[in-house]
Amino acid sequence: MKRRLFVTTALPYANGSFHIGHIMEYIQADIWVRFQRMRGHEVHFVCADDAHGAPIMLKAESEGITPDALVGRIAAERPRYLDGFHISFDNWHSTHSAENVELSQDIYRKLKSAGLIAEKTIEQFFDPVKGMFLPDRYIKGECPKCGAKDQYGDSCESCGAVYAPTELRNPYSTLSGATPVLRQSEHFFFRLSDPRCVEFLRQWTQDGKLQPEVANKTREWLEGDQGLGDWDISRDEPYFGIPIPDAPGKYFYVWLDAPVGYLASLKNHFAKGQAAALTTQDFDQFVSDPQVEQYHFIGKDIIYFHTLFWPAMLHFSGRKAPNNVFVHGFITVSGEKMSKSRGTGISPLRYLDIGMNPEWMRYYIAAKLNARVEDVDFNPDDFVARVNSDLVGKYVNIASRSASFLARFFDGELLDVRELPSWREFDEPGHSEEIARCLESREFGRALRMAMEFADRINQHFDAQKPWELAKDPASRARLHEVCSACIAGFHALTVWLKPILPMLAAQAETFLSCTQPLTWDDLGRPPRRIARYEHLMTRVDPKMLDALFEPPAPSAPAAPPAGAGKAGAAKSASNPAQATDTGSEGEGLIQIGDFAKVDLRIAKIVAAEAVEGSDKLLRLTLDCGEPQPRNVFAGIKSAYSPESLVGKSTVMVANLAPRKMKFGVSEGMVLAASFDDPSRGTGIFLLSPDYGAAPGMKVK
Ligand code: MSP
Ligand code: ZN
Repeated sequence: MKRRLFVTTALPYANGSFHIGHIMEYIQADIWVRFQRMRGHEVHFVCADDAHGAPIMLKAESEGITPDALVGRIAAERPRYLDGFHISFDNWHSTHSAENVELSQDIYRKLKSAGLIAEKTIEQFFDPVKGMFLPDRYIKGECPKCGAKDQYGDSCESCGAVYAPTELRNPYSTLSGATPVLRQSEHFFFRLSDPRCVEFLRQWTQDGKLQPEVANKTREWLEGDQGLGDWDISRDEPYFGIPIPDAPGKYFYVWLDAPVGYLASLKNHFAKGQAAALTTQDFDQFVSDPQVEQYHFIGKDIIYFHTLFWPAMLHFSGRKAPNNVFVHGFITVSGEKMSKSRGTGISPLRYLDIGMNPEWMRYYIAAKLNARVEDVDFNPDDFVARVNSDLVGKYVNIASRSASFLARFFDGELLDVRELPSWREFDEPGHSEEIARCLESREFGRALRMAMEFADRINQHFDAQKPWELAKDPASRARLHEVCSACIAGFHALTVWLKPILPMLAAQAETFLSCTQPLTWDDLGRPPRRIARYEHLMTRVDPKMLDALFEPPAPSAPAAPPAGAGKAGAAKSASNPAQATDTGSEGEGLIQIGDFAKVDLRIAKIVAAEAVEGSDKLLRLTLDCGEPQPRNVFAGIKSAYSPESLVGKSTVMVANLAPRKMKFGVSEGMVLAASFDDPSRGTGIFLLSPDYGAAPGMKVK
């Protein structure tokens, strides 16, 4: 039966570029969606920018632009990533859209009529200078337990205590530095504690559809001592968000309208389709159709919103709740967590810019994914090994080694393998359906293991039959034809199974296999009958590319040289490569002195320097920056300085750069050097040095 599917990924915040965590989520969902399409199902796969909220408003303000302009700038970068990694969304929209305003307000009105919206007066910190209520993350002060300074409003990084912002000693606003004052304000709450909600959510979360880990989490939330609290869904102006009907100066909290953005994007998708006369699908009818299945791919950090708030919002506004949410873990890089906001780790654009094949990444991520909420580690050596030995060494190899014999002796014609006894050995009934079950249940790693075992059997058959010897003996022509036809039939089956993961490679393979139409799952029963000339399908990963991925770009080869003068740039040692490529658009405007003050520049003395084995750009520097422990910093200055010449020199370092795990170790800062961005003007690199007398640890300002 043809299924009708509505699939989304989480809507990324529109205040920053994609990082590799986003790309991993899109790859997972995209593989699943492409699989469903190949099975003949109808899929509508959409996403959108999550545009609202205080951080976006404040970031725009700090840049002197409107939130709209900020969101627009980020939205404009999206296609490069999505196209680059072959992500096949049907639509990309925004929560800052007419559809979302209408749908969010409609849902709110219905919740209100159902008696599920309560008004309560709450007391909250207010920044008298900024003239706004302060979200917890913008309040700092001394920890009420241990007295540590500069702790956030919700918990202490020093002793781990958790508290309310009102408990902080000497609190201050991180926006203005002012002492916040307590002020009262009317807020609206979604009454999740209402017995109807609790009852519904027990049912929705415990009926067996959720992943076991997710069901357990929701049970803890629902059955814990506190039970479900009512959810504060309003914010006071100034706020970048959707106005609450009949409540001047009040806006929906961003997490109220964000998931509604799923519906808004779908609605927009159908409207575009209607305008282009491609569909007559009615949005309201579609989302209320009990036959339509609605799924959300999300990360483990936003389970609460998607398994409690969102189903309840939908259900009690008279809509259909999602059929399921599919939760994945986080991607780590060489075992290191990456920060959501800073997005350290692998820069997706850098990956593409240095010419790495996006389908290597899709393959690697798929190989590591399963249906559980487990973190996925990107390990450079493992990446090279899997892509080279499995993908190229096993799968692609089958086509390349069989093709030449078929072209030479049989004019590219294949035997119908269904009549060959040797083919029946490979073509175990049920194998394909088992792979389909794995793809359906998001056990991608298992699907790939099964596919690669099959590829092993085909390659072993080829090796055992020694076609290169059969080819020498005209009497063995029939045998040669059989062996090579069976191998290509195996390659064909593998191509069908791998196509959701490797769409571009599969498209090239389709040409090679003389397909008249794109392959679907049904083509498994229709083995190929002729091949076209074999064109090279995929190259191996050169391990040097991973060095390039993790190493910052050489100062002499900038990603996007701005016109004009050279500048004192970082030697880019510990810098996030993303800074060189992802945020190019940020270079435009002017900064405020406060922005500059965020960079903690210090005098550092180089006490040791050495070459880094395996890197032609980096030196490892040991820096005395006036702290009890010296720091380890990698700097891309090997081409300009011998290690010996550096020892004893003083320079300027960025001391508050987040530590960055590189292939060779952790870099704990960055030293500064000057170079031209335009290599035609010179490729020298010149380390900055302070005037005589500057001592390690002194602040540069
Ligand atoms: N805007 C909210 C989601 C609203 S959905 C109605 C949000 N945005 S986000 O940009 O922070 O995250 C988007 C998605 O990326 C989430 O599913 C999140 O879990 C996922 N990831 C963020 N960091 C990740 C990794 N390191 N690894 C994998 N996924 C990660 O949350
Ligand atoms: Zn503390």
